[in-house]
Amino acid sequence: MYIGVDYYPEQWPRTQWDKDIQLMKTLGINVVRMAEFGWSLMETEEGCYDFSLFDDVMDRFDRAGMAVVLGTPTATPPPWMVEAYPEIQPVDKNGRTVSIGARRHYTVNSRTYQGKTRQIVEAMGRHFRHHPALIGWQVDNEYGHEASDRSYGEEDARAFRQWLERKYGTLENVNKRWGTVFWSQVYTSWEQIPVPLPVYQEHNPSLLLDFDRFCADAYDIYNQLQVDALRTWIPDSQFITHNFVYSGLALDQKKMAENLDFISFDNYPVWGGLAEPIPPAATARQLDLCRGTKQETGYWVMEELSGAQGWSQIGYLPRPGHLKLWTYQAISRGAEAIVYFRWRAARFGTEQFCHGILDHDGVPRRKFDETKEVIQSLETVGDRWITAEVTADIGFYHDPENEWAWKIQPQSDQFDYAQEALRFYEPAFAWNVPVDMIREDADISRYRLIIVPLYFLTKPGFQEKLEYYVRSGGTVVFTYRTGVKDADNIVTEKTLPGSLAALVGAEIHEYESIRENNYAVIEGVKGAVAGEKAEAHVWCDYLVPDTAETLAVYRDGWVDERAAITKNSVGEGKVYYIGCGVNTDFLYTLYRDMFEDAGVSIMETPKNVEMVRREGKSENFISIMNHDTEKAGEITLPPGTWTEPATGEYFQERMVLPALGSMLLVQHCEN
Ligand code: GAL
Repeated sequence: MYIGVDYYPEQWPRTQWDKDIQLMKTLGINVVRMAEFGWSLMETEEGCYDFSLFDDVMDRFDRAGMAVVLGTPTATPPPWMVEAYPEIQPVDKNGRTVSIGARRHYTVNSRTYQGKTRQIVEAMGRHFRHHPALIGWQVDNEYGHEASDRSYGEEDARAFRQWLERKYGTLENVNKRWGTVFWSQVYTSWEQIPVPLPVYQEHNPSLLLDFDRFCADAYDIYNQLQVDALRTWIPDSQFITHNFVYSGLALDQKKMAENLDFISFDNYPVWGGLAEPIPPAATARQLDLCRGTKQETGYWVMEELSGAQGWSQIGYLPRPGHLKLWTYQAISRGAEAIVYFRWRAARFGTEQFCHGILDHDGVPRRKFDETKEVIQSLETVGDRWITAEVTADIGFYHDPENEWAWKIQPQSDQFDYAQEALRFYEPAFAWNVPVDMIREDADISRYRLIIVPLYFLTKPGFQEKLEYYVRSGGTVVFTYRTGVKDADNIVTEKTLPGSLAALVGAEIHEYESIRENNYAVIEGVKGAVAGEKAEAHVWCDYLVPDTAETLAVYRDGWVDERAAITKNSVGEGKVYYIGCGVNTDFLYTLYRDMFEDAGVSIMETPKNVEMVRREGKSENFISIMNHDTEKAGEITLPPGTWTEPATGEYFQERMVLPALGSMLLVQHCEN
C-alpha cells in the first residue's frame, strides 16, 4: 500500500532535497504528493513555462524508487494573472471581491480562468506524462474550501442565469416553482434574477437552494474541465483524484467523483485553535462519507494530520498514539493509502505553524518514530487489509441538497447539520455497527436497517422505495422534521410528516424549535427505553399516533403525555420516528433495541473504544482503537483466535488496550 508525505520542495533549498529523500526512505515512505501550489514557479509569466524545479526533484524521487502524485496548481492563481485578469477573482457573500494574498482566489465561473486552467493543466500533462516516478494526479486542492464554494460576482450571476434557463426553460416556470408572487418577486427577464447578495431580510429559499445546486454544478463542470485537459495527454495508467472536504459546502462530491478514478480526503481530526480533537464519531462519519462517495473503490487520505496545525492559532498537540490511531481509523473505514501532511513545517508563509512529521528544525523525534512504527506495522498486512470488505448492515441517508436546505433555514439557533447528523450516527458508531452512507439512488435491499435523519427536503421516488423496502421487512428510522419540503424547497400542503405520514403511522400537528438553554424532557414508556428519561434539544415534533405505538412521551407542561418517539409496523417491516433531538445516552438504548429487532449485530466495547471489522477472502480483520486519552479499555474479542501481524502475538476472548492504543488483529477463515 502507498504511505507517503505531502512535500513542498519549493520551500526548501535544493541542497536539502536529497537529505529529505534519504530520511523519507528510512521511514518507509513510498509516495509523495507535490506541486499543488506551485503555479507561479511553473508559469513565471503568461505562457512561459518552467517545470525544471519539479523535474529535478521528481528525478531524485525516481532514483530513490519513490512514486510521485502531482497536484495541478489551480488553487493558487499567480499574482501576474490576477493583475492581468481581475475578473477571475471571486466575490464573497457580502459583495466584496476576494483579494489575492492567500489562496482559492478564483471563481470557477470565470471564462478567463477556465481557459487559464486548461492551459496550465494541459501544459503539465504534456510535460510530465512520461515521468517514470509519476503515478497519478490530484486536481486542484480542496474545491470549495474556505468559503470558496459560492461566489457572487458578475461572471457568477451570468452563469447562474444560464443555468436557470437550462433548468426551467421559461421564466413562467421559475416564477411558479419558486413562488415569486410572494413579496412581488415575479421576474420578467432573466437578467433581473439576483445572485443572493445581502438583502434586508432573507432571500427566497427556493432561489437559495437553486443557487447552491448551481454552485455545485459549476464545480462539477470545472472538475470535468481539469480531468479532460489531463486525459488529453496522460496515459490511462495514471489516476486522477481530488482531495475533498465534507463540511456542508455547495459541492456534490458523489457526482464529481464519477469523473475521478477515486476520491481523496484530507483528514484533520483536530485543526487550528481547537482545544481537543473532534469526537471520534465525527471523524468516523466523515470517513464513511468518503467511502460512500465512490462506493466501488477505496479512497486515499491525501493529507493525514501528523503534527499540531494552525495559522495564527495553534490548538491541541496530538498525543503519542494519535498518529497511529487516526491512521488505523481511516484504513478501517476504507482508506487504501495514507499521505501525511506534511513532511516538515514551513519556515515562512501562512502555514508556518502547520507542523509536520518534522518540525522547523528538521530533527526526527517522536512524530518521526511514531510514523515509522505505523509504517512497519502495516508492512506485511497493509495490502491485505485495504482490500478486505467493510460490510455494512445499515444504510445512513446523506444528501448534500438536504444539508443545504437546512443551512438555508436552520429553524433553531441550536441546529447545526453536521452536529445533528452526528446525533443520529453516533449510537451506531458506539455499538460498532458499520454504516454505508447512501443517497436515494442506492440499492437499499441489502441493508437490514436504514437511518434517514433530518429528511427535511424530500426527493421524488425515495418514499416509494422506502415503502417497498419496509413492506418487504426492512426497518426505517426517521427523525424530527421529516417530510416538510418538496425538492423545490416548498413546504408540503399535507399534514406532517407529509407524504411519509402513512409509513410513520403518526401525524405532527404542532412542533417547536428549542432554543439555547432550553430543553424538553422525554420519558420512555414502552420497550427497552421504558422508564428512561432524557433531555431533548434543538427541535420537538409533537406526534399524534395513528397506527404507530408510542415508545416515549414528552414530560413537560402543556405537552405532557404527547408522543415523542413512535414505532409503526408496516407489512413485514418497522418504521421508527424520533421526534426530537434526544440525548445520546437514551439513543444508545433505543438503537440497541432497534438493532436487535432488525437482526443487526453489535460489537460491545468500552466507551471511546472503536472496533471495525473488515472481511477478506480468507481472513478477517478487526481493528481496535482506544480514543480515550487516559483510560485503558478492556475488550471482548469476537470468538476465535486473533493474531497481531506486527508482533505475531495471539489473542483470545479478552484483551486490554492502553489509552490511545490501536491494534490490528487478523483471523484466518476456515473456507
Ligand atoms: C488543508 C490544505 C493544506 C493545508 C492544510 C493545513 O486543508 O489542503 O494545503 O492548508 O489544510 O493543515
